[in-house]
Parts: sequence; C-alpha cells; structure tokens
Amino acid sequence: MDYMSSGMRYIPSDKEWDNDVQFLPAADSNKLEKKRRPGKFGAVIAVVVLAVVIALVIGVLVWHFHFRKDMRVKRMYSGSMRITNRAFDDVYENSTSPEFKALAKQVISQLKTIYSKSPQLSKYYRDSTIQAFSEGSVIAYYLSEFSVPVGQEAAVDNAMSSVETLVKKQRALQNSGDGLTLDDVVTSALDDRMSSPSFRKHTKANLIGHIQSPGFPNKPYPRNTLIKWQLRADPGHVLKLDFGTFDLESSCKSDFVKIYDSLVPIESLLMVELCGKHLPNNRLGFLSSGNVMLVTMATHNSSFPGFRAAVQLHFSQFPKLLPSQNDVRLVPAGKGVKLTFTKFLLAEPGNENMDCNKDYVMVNGKKLCGDKLDKSQQTETSNTNSMTVVFSSDKSRVDRGFSAEYEAIDVQNPCPQKFQCRNSNCIKSELRCDGWNDCGDMSDEQECTCRADSISCKNGLCKPMFWKCDGIDDCGDNTDELNCGCKSAEVTCKNGKCVSEKMRCDGSDDCGDGSDEVNCARDLTYKCKNNKCISKVNPECDGVKDCEDNSDEENCDCGKRAGKASRIVGGQDAEVGEFPWQISLHVKKHSHVCGASLISPDWLVTAAHCVQDEASLKLSQAGAWEIYLGLHRQNQLGSPAEKRNLKQIIPHPNYNSFTFDNDIALMQLDSPVSYTDYIRPICLPSPQHDFPVGEGVTITGWGATREGGSAATVLQKASVRIINQTVCNNLMGGQLTSRMFCAGVLSGGVDACQGDSGGPLTSPSGSRAFLAGVVSWGDGCARRNKPGIYTRVTKFRAWIKEKTGV
Ligand code: ARG
Repeated sequence: MDYMSSGMRYIPSDKEWDNDVQFLPAADSNKLEKKRRPGKFGAVIAVVVLAVVIALVIGVLVWHFHFRKDMRVKRMYSGSMRITNRAFDDVYENSTSPEFKALAKQVISQLKTIYSKSPQLSKYYRDSTIQAFSEGSVIAYYLSEFSVPVGQEAAVDNAMSSVETLVKKQRALQNSGDGLTLDDVVTSALDDRMSSPSFRKHTKANLIGHIQSPGFPNKPYPRNTLIKWQLRADPGHVLKLDFGTFDLESSCKSDFVKIYDSLVPIESLLMVELCGKHLPNNRLGFLSSGNVMLVTMATHNSSFPGFRAAVQLHFSQFPKLLPSQNDVRLVPAGKGVKLTFTKFLLAEPGNENMDCNKDYVMVNGKKLCGDKLDKSQQTETSNTNSMTVVFSSDKSRVDRGFSAEYEAIDVQNPCPQKFQCRNSNCIKSELRCDGWNDCGDMSDEQECTCRADSISCKNGLCKPMFWKCDGIDDCGDNTDELNCGCKSAEVTCKNGKCVSEKMRCDGSDDCGDGSDEVNCARDLTYKCKNNKCISKVNPECDGVKDCEDNSDEENCDCGKRAGKASRIVGGQDAEVGEFPWQISLHVKKHSHVCGASLISPDWLVTAAHCVQDEASLKLSQAGAWEIYLGLHRQNQLGSPAEKRNLKQIIPHPNYNSFTFDNDIALMQLDSPVSYTDYIRPICLPSPQHDFPVGEGVTITGWGATREGGSAATVLQKASVRIINQTVCNNLMGGQLTSRMFCAGVLSGGVDACQGDSGGPLTSPSGSRAFLAGVVSWGDGCARRNKPGIYTRVTKFRAWIKEKTGV
C-alpha cells in the first residue's frame, strides 16, 4: 500500500532523512578532490561503484517484475448473519462476558469452515472478529480479514458475494447437533475510508438521548478521527435519528457521516451518507428497520461545527422477528376503498426498470416501487370494501418506505362534488377543461366544451386564450397557431395580437410583449465600434462580418464548450464540461450558496442579492467567498475544478432588496484562470440582442431540486421557455420591472430554485451560448403559473463594460 492511497500524509521522520540521503557540502568535496588525485586506485573504486549500482538496478527490476506479483493487500469485509438456533440474551451485549466470547468463538470457527468451501476465500483468509450481537434470534456482526494478491481483489469480492450460497449448502449438509444454523448472510467490502489506521476509534453503545460530534457546539470537530455510535433499542422497537444541526465539510471525500441499518458498517445496509451543511428547516430524519443502527463519522482535514442528533425509540410497527404480518383494517360493507400514497420512497438499485422484484408495495395485485410515483399511480381504488396492500422488502438495502391514507368511498359516487379522473384521482371541478393535465392521465382535458376564455383545439382540448398565436403548438394539433395573420394595415405581434401599423416603433409597447418595438431602426441597430450602425438581428459573433471594422466579430472567444456541441427543479444531470462558464460560489467554511457565470479570465456575473450582508455573514466582502470554476460535482472540488479568491465585488448601485430590481453584481477573481475544457466564458449579449418569447433556453445550477428541498450534488440543467412579459407580469401580481424577464414552464415542475441564484440562463444563438439572464427570484419553485424571474442582462451590457472592460 502506498501512502497516497492509504489516505495518510507522508511526513518523513528526521531519521529517514538521515538514512536516505547524505549530502556533503560542495566546497568540501572540492577540497577532497584536490587532495586525492585520480589514479589507478580511483579507477578501481569507480568500477566497483558502477558494478554495485548496476546490481542494485537489476535487483530492483527483478523485484518489481517478479516478486511484486506476490504483493498482497489487506481486504476487510463486514457482514452480519442470523443464528436461528440460538436465543438472544442480554449478556451478549457485553463483549467481555464469557457467553459473548464463547458464541464469538463458535461463529468464527463457522466462518472459517464456510470460507474453506471456496478456493478463492480459503487461500487468502486470515481471521475474523465478532463486533457485536443483537436480537433476532441472534444476529452476529463480524469483520473478516483477507490478505489478497494485488489484482485478485475483484475475484475475492465476487466470492464473498456468494457466501450466502455457501451457507445454504452447508445448512443442507448439516444434520443437527451443536452447530449454529445460519441464515440471512449479508457481506460487503469495508469502505476504504473507514479502515485507515490513522483514525482513532471510539465505540459508544446504548446511547439513547442524543449524539453529537466531539466538541459540538463550542469547538470544531477534531481531525483524523473515526467515531462510531452503535445504537441499540429494546426488542420490538426501532430507532429514530433526527439531526438538529448538521454542518460538515462539503466534500464527502474527507469528512462524512454514514448511517447503517446494522451494527457494523455493511455497505449494502447503508441508509445514507451525509456531508456539507443541512439547514435546520430541512430536517434530516432516519428510521431503522430493526432495533439497531450504526452512525459513523470520519473526519480528515477540516474544522467545521459538526452535528447533533436526537435518538428516539419507537415501537416497531413491523416487528423484524415476524416473517410477515397481517394488519386488518375495516371499512363498512357496501363501501369501496380508496388508498392515496402520501410518501413513497422504495428506491433500490437494480429496480429501475420497474419490474419491482426487490422492495415493493402491491395494491390489489399491482406492484409499485421506486422513489417516485407519477400522478396516475398515487391513488388506487377498490369497488368492494376490501383491498389488499402488501409491503415486501428484501434484505439487501433499505429506504424510508411509504405512507398512505385510506378512506371508505361511495362506490356509486367516489368523488363527491369533484371530478373523477379515469385513474380514480378526484380533482376540483374547476380544473376540468382548463388546459392543464391535472389528473395525470389527461382525462380531465378530454371531451371538453371549452369556456369562452379558452381556445377550442380541433382535437377537443381547451387551452388558455393567452397561448393563442404565441408561436408554440399548445393544442398538439397546431390549431392555436392557425389564423394568426392580421389585416393589411396591421402588424402581427409575436404573441399573435394585431396592432395598427402606426403603433409600430412609436415607443410604447402596444403588443404587450414588446414585439412592436423591436426591429425599429432606433432599437435594432447594432452599433459598431466605429459608431456606425447596422440593421441586423443579433449580428454579434455570428461568424459574418457585419461592421466595416469587424467589431461585431471581436471578442468572440466565448459561449462554446470544448467537447461535443452538444438544482434546478425538474432538470437532469449536466454532462461534464457542458456548461464551462457555470461557477459555484462558496461562502468560506460553508458550502455552495449561489451560482455565477464566467465572462472573461477574471470577471464573473452573479446576482446582487447573493452578495448582501446577512447577520454575521459579510457577504458583500470579497474575503467571504471561495470561487469554484470548472466544477461538476459539489463533492469533487479538486482538479479539473479550480479554486480562486476574490479581488472585488461590485453590486449594481441601484439594486433594490425589496423589489429585486437590478439584481446583478460583478466579481473579479484575485488571479485570472486559463481556459480549459471545463472552464470557458459565456458570451455577453449586446444591448439590442433579441431573445424572442417562446424561445427554448437552459438554466443550470446546484440549487434545490424541489421547493424546500436540498441542494444538488451534480450540476443540474433544465430547459425552459422565455415567457411573454405582460402575461408574466399578470401572473406575478405586477411585480416585474423592465430589468426582469420570466422563463419557465407554466404547467409547473421545471424551474430554478434556492441555490441557483446568480447562475446563468443561457440562450443559444448560432453555435454559441449567450447569457440572457441571471437567476434572480420566484414565488416558491416550479409552481404552476409561477415562472422563474431573471435579471435581463441586455439592460446591463454598458454597465458591465464600464466596470470590467469586458
Ligand atoms: N433567490 C433564489 C436563490 O437565492 C433563487 C430563486 C429562483 N427561484 C425560482 N423559482 N426561479 O437561490
């Protein structure tokens, strides 16, 4: 094992320096040379030295290519198994009791027998230790050590994963007697980060009340420490862990807390790995499936406050000892049953294809699994007063489970005073035929007679009137985009409205979306550097020389990603290097707070509201921030990401913290970055750049992935559309200024959210990306009819130029 991979710092001791290298001062050696003239004797010495050196080199090579193959690594596996023919006794909790020792000895000898059945395991097996026993007949938790030749690790992992089969075989051969009967074997390789010998270990047992990291809350937690809390509850109970404060380093690489549904760290029984900061309003709670839980905390280099969590006991609703349990609830005869899921978290790797053969809930024979149910799966009904709900969980992994409400319904009228969807959902009657898919299966939008304020699509759908002639096919059959022409003396607005020719370019927004005021000589004209004007939409950096002095094609090293040209709510993981201008702003000693965009080697654009002082946090000061460029995952802050400090922050002088007007700020890095595949600037639009309503744009960030939720680890991207200013101003209660614009998906579900602020809204123009907006504010996140509000960058082009020269 080399020092790097063991995670320890290599600090040579004084002795090692002494041994390894001995230098003589150059002056002395000169003197020595002068005294002894090189002669025959000198030549002999030189030959001898040369021979020794050659022998050494050959020795090292032989060792490297021959013996190194025999180099072995220590591999630890943790596991648990149920001993079905023993009953638990309290003395087994005390590892110094003779009973513990006796049973431990038996288990260890049994493990040895099991491993001896596999050639890979028997060859490399060293020893096992028993970590603990718990109830459930008796569950034994153990660590097994193997000494594995380099390169054979995977084969041993593989063999370990079939230990359960070996146990079954052995059980079949066993005829009776004193031996232990084993079942439910779970094993996995120990997380490397937890086997480093540089960690101090503490084990605390039987703690009910609360647990906290050392020093909390007065001192930061200590470095290079591994702490384990083994939590046990009385039989028939489960443990609940509730974190009040949680503030660790943002990278899980060095500092993390892991919680297991076990007494030893078996990775397949890992409930969660936590790091970074979790705000108190986003409470973290975890429930064990049995009466034990293991909390481990590993620290490395950092000094953060740590955590405190309350530990509580709950009666187990599903005692682990019973293989299955029936729970019968009654609804009156003659009624039907309706079940509505309120939470559904049954994620399990390997179950993604939805065949639900691992953990599942089965309602009336229909299996449900995964960590999200779509609207049409959230309710199930039965026409009789009986409904069978089966919950099945295998032993390989745990999630939080589900909760559901049930009610008796009148089979004849299951949705009194409401509309009944085909999928049995009941929705408010007003939501029928309003253009939105409220049922989840579109049944509320079919067979409609449209209201006067709706468009009647040919296919029978109804859509809000303000979507008519907006350039987007909302009906699905394009009926809302037909007959959008205007009379001869009229101009057609972008939103389909017709206004008199005379109103065009008269300085007032008659269309309501400003489209009668663009392409006016005054507005459309692009001003070249030589002050000459040209009349062309978005001529900058389009690859065509439009200005005589070529100034429209200057400074165009922007808006392109290196590779293929190819949290945000409702988004998906970005590709590495897909948004090389995206920046993560960290408040020092905390984690990601806001986004920003790179516009030159040393200037960033962000939101002014990100750099306002907050109680003790002096966010307006350059020194408060740490800037990450080229970042993809918040838990991988190293290369290719680059870290910088700030030289200065320039918030817009007219930023209004009540209205969020002029929500833009500039940041200058303390030293410029070099552009790489992961770090590149975005193009700034000229003041006249046109970002048309309805255009598809991209938002990116590490913000919350749902309203009130926690931040994303991997950079998220989502597609939204620019929304008509008048429509949006109405939706937002008249709170828009001309320095703001809206983008989103009006049916909800896709939006920027807390933590995305300051980040880019990117609009494609040709093969380049332009910074159209800066994430600014919103009413909640991803709510229906509440789009996201962005700072309109074109309004600030001159200010950016003035302050940064870019
Ligand atoms: N102000 C938020 C932040 O500080 C961003 C809000 C964006 N909200 C939205 N719904 N688009 O991160």
